[in-house]
Amino acid sequence: MDLTYRPRRLRRTSALREMVRENSLSPADFIYPLFVHQGSEEEEIGAMPGAKRWSVANIMREVERAWGLGIRCVVLFPKVSEDLKSEDGAECFNENGLIPKAISLIKNELPEMMIMTDVALDPYSCDGHDGIVSNEGIVLNDETIDQLCRQAVVQAQAGADLIGPSDMMDGRVGAIREALDDEGFQHVGIISYTAKYASAYYGPFREALDSAPRQDSGKIIPKDKSTYQMDPANSREAITEAQLDEQEGADILMVKPGLAYLDIIYRLREESELPIAAYNVSGEYAMVKAAAQRGWIDERSVVLETLLSFKRAGADLILTYHSCDAAGWLGDLKS
Ligand code: PBG
Repeated sequence: MDLTYRPRRLRRTSALREMVRENSLSPADFIYPLFVHQGSEEEEIGAMPGAKRWSVANIMREVERAWGLGIRCVVLFPKVSEDLKSEDGAECFNENGLIPKAISLIKNELPEMMIMTDVALDPYSCDGHDGIVSNEGIVLNDETIDQLCRQAVVQAQAGADLIGPSDMMDGRVGAIREALDDEGFQHVGIISYTAKYASAYYGPFREALDSAPRQDSGKIIPKDKSTYQMDPANSREAITEAQLDEQEGADILMVKPGLAYLDIIYRLREESELPIAAYNVSGEYAMVKAAAQRGWIDERSVVLETLLSFKRAGADLILTYHSCDAAGWLGDLKS
């Protein structure tokens, strides 16, 4: 054939492919989520093989391992014991709570490791919602924000570097920015869960923390989070959320979940100059693990391809439970 263009020319050898490769992964792209619990030993999590609930005493082992693999940031989630949960989630701003304790320990032992936190009431709420639920079954916006601001300040006091509001209340980024500034934490950043969808992919995470919405008190409790998390059918709305978060002072914008929302990552990348993060959530992790355990897919190739797809869509950072495995595989590829 008399072809002028033969794109296969640049795919002919591995060296050529490396030369024209448009995107790449590095361990510094990853933010590694870690679960913390009260117990003294680590515990397996049923639907998240390979992920564990760490004790405060042992968490440094995993943090050191991650640092050694080139990972530069962890995000911490608490499994709070039932007796500490309440309707207003006040345990979230207990200075001696699990998260402040874990933060100060890590900052003490390995100050270079960046620590991101999650700001929302669900792990601390007996109703399993990110905000306070009224007697009428409404998730209250402004009352919740007061709690979130106190939570953010306590996390910053303990040494957190990046505060991550995941609650989807209106106006929370601005309120948290102001609360942090008032307390002298101008240097602490906000990585906002900007476009967080009401997704079924969070199932395994809610199992890990035992934090799913539930009927516990006498009130009517909404069964899902769709009055505050976004409708999976919407994309323009994500732009509105991004504009608001920018105006309110967010430093990094996040899209969550990741894989089913690559179009949203792409749109935010086009819309904003801020760094964009993608959250490769627990359900995405569980599906890969389950298929890999049955020998139906090659875990390493599928994970690296998936993580690369977030970069290609426009993400700078990826929150992923695969962080350590992926960082290890990237190291193997180099050597
Ligand atoms: C809490 C929170 C959730 C996740 C991160 N922060 C669960 C939820 O909103 O119900 C999910 C993370 C994952 O599934 O990996 N607000």
